[in-house]
Amino acid sequence: MSEWPDTRILDLFGIEIPIIQAPMAGATTPEMVLAVSEAGGLGALPSAQYNTEQLRAALDTIRAGTKKPINVNFFAHTMPQADPARQMAWRARLASYYVEAGLDPADPIPSGGRAPFDMSFCDVVEAYKPEIVSFHFGLPAAALLDRVRATGAKIISSATTVAEAQWLAERGVDAIIAMGFEAGGHRGNFLTENMATQVGTMALVPQIVDAVNVPVIAAGGIADGRGVAAAFALGASAVQVGTAYLFATEAKIPAVHRAALMRAGDDNTALTNVFTGRPARGVINRVMREVGPISDLAPAFPTAGGALAPLRAKAEAAGGDDFTNLWSGQAAKLARPMSSAEFTHVLAADGLRIMRRLAGGKSD
Ligand SMILES: Cc1cc2nc3c(=O)[nH]c(=O)nc-3n(C[C@H](O)[C@H](O)[C@H](O)COP(=O)(O)O)c2cc1C
Repeated sequence: MSEWPDTRILDLFGIEIPIIQAPMAGATTPEMVLAVSEAGGLGALPSAQYNTEQLRAALDTIRAGTKKPINVNFFAHTMPQADPARQMAWRARLASYYVEAGLDPADPIPSGGRAPFDMSFCDVVEAYKPEIVSFHFGLPAAALLDRVRATGAKIISSATTVAEAQWLAERGVDAIIAMGFEAGGHRGNFLTENMATQVGTMALVPQIVDAVNVPVIAAGGIADGRGVAAAFALGASAVQVGTAYLFATEAKIPAVHRAALMRAGDDNTALTNVFTGRPARGVINRVMREVGPISDLAPAFPTAGGALAPLRAKAEAAGGDDFTNLWSGQAAKLARPMSSAEFTHVLAADGLRIMRRLAGGKSD
């Protein structure tokens, strides 16, 4: 019998530990995903910075390493129309940095960025049948969502407000990630753009629990056993942990990002749109301070990043983090470096111990 006070997510996903390693595009490796799933949690593979061949290769590695359930994650945004005037204005805002770096501000802007879920990604889902499929920024079009559902996958998505949670529940998701303001990376908001009214995890989780009938997964600022216990006390059936897994040995991030995480405290992250065009939380650096953290000039998601790419490459080559997106939540300081499997076990054991203690039982 499970020791966990709420087993709805364990039963729904077929996992043993209600800890989801957050999908983190650009940082989560297939090795991390399979290690967390093998440990009994749910490993989640982010696809937004993969093409379909890269996604297939990552899934081959994972499926060869574990037979346990996995989560594959996609962004559900709509690509914006080309907007050359806005790109020009953005480039003009960054021109002095180009000059400072010895780069030509007139060089073509590299494309790339983050790809939304589409038919070709859906083909991969149909071929590999991940047990869980998660979306960020809402849900894809109904026809695509129906195809995912027909594979038998459980479908989950992030909500940053009660209204977003209700919207997702009305569309039949199996569980909802309540993503509090503390969280690192892109906010999952899709019905509101108002960052001033985004909700903290402590307030968001119980209000979403009260508003929907599906199980709720708490995310944002959870990095140790205390956070796990708190999430269950608020009515969550599982937690999704991102930033703390960036400290795991299997995380793949630039050295400057790792260094920034090591010095991150409670008050040196901010929401910024300068790296991609959508608000995301990261450790404050020079471009956030001088151009943002929120800039009206930043082109629509995900196209703002192209103009920063040459600056970032030049700075990182010299060991600088002035133009790197240093995604982090507000609780980085609580994280401890270890392997993903060990961290999953430690989080679970510490969370359970605290819950037992609070319930008046023995602490060990
Ligand atoms: C480096 C980084 C990258 C992220 N990328 C994704 C992503 O690709 N897809 C997604 O759904 N969420 C992404 N997120 C958000 C996480 O899923 C999760 O909601 C968040 O990390 C939880 O807050 P925490 O960082 O305080 O643990 C990312 C977060 C971080 C820190």
